[in-house]
Amino acid sequence: MFEKKTIIVTGASKGIGREISRALAREGANLALVARGVDALADTRLQILEEIPSCKVEIFPCDITDSERVRITVEAIVQSFGSIDACISNAGYSHPQYFDQTPIVEFEKQIQTNYLGAVYLLKFCKPHLKAGSFIAVTSSVLGYMGCFGYSSYGPSKYAVLGLAETLRQEFAFDKIQVSVLCPPDTLTPGYQLENVTKPKETLLLSEGMKALDPEEVAAIFLKGLKKGKFIINCNLESEVIFRFKLMAPEAYYKVIMSQLKKIKKDKLGMI
Ligand SMILES: NC(=O)c1ccc[n+]([C@@H]2O[C@H](COP(=O)([O-])OP(=O)(O)OC[C@H]3O[C@@H](n4cnc5c(N)ncnc54)[C@H](OP(=O)(O)O)[C@@H]3O)[C@@H](O)[C@H]2O)c1
Repeated sequence: MFEKKTIIVTGASKGIGREISRALAREGANLALVARGVDALADTRLQILEEIPSCKVEIFPCDITDSERVRITVEAIVQSFGSIDACISNAGYSHPQYFDQTPIVEFEKQIQTNYLGAVYLLKFCKPHLKAGSFIAVTSSVLGYMGCFGYSSYGPSKYAVLGLAETLRQEFAFDKIQVSVLCPPDTLTPGYQLENVTKPKETLLLSEGMKALDPEEVAAIFLKGLKKGKFIINCNLESEVIFRFKLMAPEAYYKVIMSQLKKIKKDKLGMI
């Protein structure tokens, strides 16, 4: 599925995107790596070449919130590789905080990065994709369940999932597979940063849950792509929450609220 295919990966310089890129290189893919920071992108490229010297891998620094830059970048990738076989829209970030303390600009920036960044990439890649290719987007477990502290991030990831559900129907007629990666907490530079602003309740909610390694997430993602999966959850917990929330949203709400009340009363002494 990946051998000799040219695949664009955004957010490829760190965390999950870097590991997805490395895993794809091991499977024989040619890679166009996209992110803003040139140094981290060049590092990822070097890491890939050290492991797979034969890999054709190029870096394309670009801010995905700028639609014109994304258009130019996709054209540059086509020029350099001759064609595109697949694209993975993975770049994104999260800034958890209480709704009351989250500045408006954070709501705007996360929609611009997490949602519109994906729209721009897919819009400019789609005309180049042929039957048999695939696109994938990274949403999150927070793309299908609301969570205390994530009022600016969660909706941007719901939007990504909504976009993918729509494109899955439209692109089926072009024989282009659409998949959505929904990672849970994963140990990446982005995850470390988000822990700085996370409300205490949010931190305590995930206490005891094991965060995954990005290598694990990348391996599960590639397996899911090969199986033609639409939603790619990364562990049993996520799969259970996904089904429970879908089938019994009120019961899900009650479970979360009882956990939050316990946290506020027993751990924070707030009730
Ligand atoms: N880690 C988790 O717990 C977790 C859980 C669920 C979902 N996710 C999602 O998984 C994806 C990857 O997250 P991660 O944890 O691996 O994050 P990360 O370690 O912070 O890496 C994010 C990547 O996206 C790039 N990026 C960010 N903003 C960009 C922009 N405006 N234009 C171009 N590139 C941009 C970053 O590079 P530059 O900063 O150099 O641009 C970097 O390569 C994100 O969509 C995130 O929302 C993560």
